[in-house]
Amino acid sequence: MSGLQIDKLSMRFDLPNGSSVQALKDVSLDLKAGELLSVLGPSGCGKTTLLNIVAGFLAPTDGKIALNGNTVNGPGPERGMVFQQGALFEWMSVRENVGFGPSMKGMPKAEKAEIVDHLLDVVGLQDFKDKAVYELSGGMQQRVALARCLANEPDVILMDEPLGALDALTREKMQGLVLKLWKETGKTIILITHSVEEALLLGERLIVMAPRPGRIHREYNLPFAEMGVNHDLRDVKKDPKFGETREEILSMIWDMEEEIMGRTEDAQ
Ligand SMILES: Nc1ncnc2c1ncn2[C@@H]1O[C@H](COP(=O)(O)OP(=O)(O)OP(=O)(O)O)[C@@H](O)[C@H]1O
Ligand SMILES: [Mg+2]
Repeated sequence: MSGLQIDKLSMRFDLPNGSSVQALKDVSLDLKAGELLSVLGPSGCGKTTLLNIVAGFLAPTDGKIALNGNTVNGPGPERGMVFQQGALFEWMSVRENVGFGPSMKGMPKAEKAEIVDHLLDVVGLQDFKDKAVYELSGGMQQRVALARCLANEPDVILMDEPLGALDALTREKMQGLVLKLWKETGKTIILITHSVEEALLLGERLIVMAPRPGRIHREYNLPFAEMGVNHDLRDVKKDPKFGETREEILSMIWDMEEEIMGRTEDAQ
């Protein structure tokens, strides 16, 4: 069985003071190999918790996850993670960062060099391969992070706000790169974002999560990721359906935020 099956996942954090937080409740999701899912939802609705469980960094209190038919019990190279920032090895060059996974696997030097070269081409950093990480801009660092993740040949790429720390223009370019990588590599991708536009642009499938307890509130199948591959993302945003869906989701999240803040007038 291929793809990622998330089956009735629940996560409760027991706190030292005796109380507990139900971060996720009965979250089920079936992702086919090669699908691109974006995840939206107000702060605290369990997005990172969900990703951490899929990554194998956290064990759920209930439910299970299987990738290609194999139960997930901990971290593994078939699931790669790209964080918001700061997860590169600062003391290594770009080339060494990207080659880290292959080195750990004991891959012969020549083969590793070939893979690293290819990936640096893919993310457009060929001219920077001997630079240190601190010499790069934020956008370049995220491109290194993507290349480093791809070098491990994961089946699934998990991204938690990968573009959240970038300026608007760099972010837009990176969104195009994520779409290109998705199409060219056929990887399954789960991408968490706080930006509704980004979720619409990059989510072939999109889930909106709700808090307390964290759960899937609404799911969409969208044409925009496919439309955006090798096209100007600004044109995609001009599509009337894009604007309509954006407004619908913005109001949905706005209502949830209001409820969290206890400001909904008809709250009982
Ligand atoms: N290790 C932990 N111990 C206790 N509670 C936790 C822990 N990790 C997360 N939580 C709680 O679980 C809930 C979900 O947290 P999570 O970080 O998954 O939310 P999120 O949707 O990623 O939020 P944000 O958008 O702010 O990143 C929150 O109420 C949070 O306080
Ligand atoms: Mg989070």
